[in-house]
Amino acid sequence: MTDKQETDGSRRCSARGLSRRSLLIGLTVGAATLAAGRAAKAACSLTPHQIEGPFYPVAVQDQDWDLTHVSGRSGRAEGEVIEVTGRVRDAKCQPVPDCVVEVWQANLHGRYNHPLDEPRGRPLDPNFQGYARFATDKDGAYRFVTIIPGSYLAIGDWIRPPHIHFKAHAAFNPSLTTQMYFAGHPLNDKDRLLAPLSPKQRAVLEVAFDTMRADGVRTGTFNLTLAEG
Ligand SMILES: [Fe+2]
Repeated sequence: MTDKQETDGSRRCSARGLSRRSLLIGLTVGAATLAAGRAAKAACSLTPHQIEGPFYPVAVQDQDWDLTHVSGRSGRAEGEVIEVTGRVRDAKCQPVPDCVVEVWQANLHGRYNHPLDEPRGRPLDPNFQGYARFATDKDGAYRFVTIIPGSYLAIGDWIRPPHIHFKAHAAFNPSLTTQMYFAGHPLNDKDRLLAPLSPKQRAVLEVAFDTMRADGVRTGTFNLTLAEG
């Protein structure tokens, strides 16, 4: 049916000419349309893209889900330990299993384990892994343990708030590169990558670590929604 036919049809359906039966049918169809509209709105919003940045790791031997320990060392990374959990899903909110997720971040001192970050002189933490690579399970779920990264001076007077870089690679969806932030951090409102986003987009990227495991480790949930393939 063309737009014109629809328009003509709606003109013919004046309220005065409707029978009780057709009015009931119309109400039913209208309710179904409203329900479909609500379902469409309930679909998952895409996770905003964020730049990869200059410190994507060049070579990391230890890549497991626990960034607070480095293989072969007994110490633990400096900083507050946190647990990040979440799901990777598509725009229809369906889980994306076997999605490879990479995460990388600065250590407590705002230092990346990357040659380009050496000149700034901030200390490395030999017990901090700084990078992990893992796959989602059959429900699209993932989990890793890390520390809250430090902030760092980017360019000029721009100080980056604590954040974790993410890259998700799925078989049937476009890859996603983004960054996760810590809700309520005072630097978030001034960040040149986060602050320009809409409140809705910011809400997707800013995670509240407001629940706690039995051992006192704070946890937060960061869901990633990929575009359709
Ligand atoms: Fe960064």
